[in-house]
Amino acid sequence: MIRMINMPMPKADILVVDDNEMNVRVLEALLLSRGHDVRVARDGEEALKQIGEKHPDLVLLDIMMPKIDGFQVLEEIRSNKETELIPIILLTALSDIDSNVKGIELGADDFITKPFNKSLLMARVRNLLRGKNLLDELESVDAVIAMTAKIIEAKDKYTEGHVERVTEYAVKLGEAAGLEEWDLRNLKRGALLHDLGKIAVPDAVLNKEGKLSEEEWKHILLHPSIGADILQDLKSLKAVVDIVLHHHEKLDGSGYPDKLKGDEITKESRIMAIADIYDALTTTRSYKKSMSPETAIRILQEEAQAGKLDSELVMLFSRLVKDGKFDAISE
Ligand SMILES: [Fe+2]
Repeated sequence: MIRMINMPMPKADILVVDDNEMNVRVLEALLLSRGHDVRVARDGEEALKQIGEKHPDLVLLDIMMPKIDGFQVLEEIRSNKETELIPIILLTALSDIDSNVKGIELGADDFITKPFNKSLLMARVRNLLRGKNLLDELESVDAVIAMTAKIIEAKDKYTEGHVERVTEYAVKLGEAAGLEEWDLRNLKRGALLHDLGKIAVPDAVLNKEGKLSEEEWKHILLHPSIGADILQDLKSLKAVVDIVLHHHEKLDGSGYPDKLKGDEITKESRIMAIADIYDALTTTRSYKKSMSPETAIRILQEEAQAGKLDSELVMLFSRLVKDGKFDAISE
């Protein structure tokens, strides 16, 4: 507990929404003294306007206000994709439990009853800001991953749009297969990064017209391990590493690099394999022309019958293709 108190508080842009001048002044002084930037809105309408102009890192929100009350402001913030994750603390004179329950149900992160205890309020502000910082970091991880995906693609001129398409195929198949939100997030990251190791494959091999020699194939076969090695030390990407490493494994052990079999291959990696193969079949590569979706699906089904791909997932994927569920269009 003592360690928590000593932990530094991230500096933030905080919006105070209250129609009571006295409260505003006390809160403003308190937050400024901790180095935060403070904005003030005197009613709900002004609060929504300010939030629309620039998203604050945290909102301290009074409930009883003229025009639009705090509950409505809360609902507005939570129903907008752009603002739904902004931390909100309700500041209220209402000490009745029903109002507090209503606030939390509408999505408030916390509430403080007035007159408030300054230390308690600041401790709650600090905790919420720390959570927000973590979320922001996760978002920047995704931005770096998206950028890396573009670098990977730029290296291989025959696979333009491949990463984007494979990611869409994999995520929609993952959804259809009932993956949980966190697993879907990792699948998406894995799909964006699956060919990261191609960074280490010579351009002459990647962009070669026609068939590859045995020696050249050796370079290609190394790309899953190289990609996994690059990501190995990034703690937040542990689950993604497995997808990168095993997206070319086959259920009968004929894949690479670890020749895994059956249950040794995770559902996410099986999904990736199907998405990757389907895109390879339906696009033109240096060594072959593109196939129609129907032909590609037939080949996936044959691979499933031969025990190489997961039949249930191939069946789900075929249905998604037939039902026109994909926005991505292969050439
Ligand atoms: Fe690959």
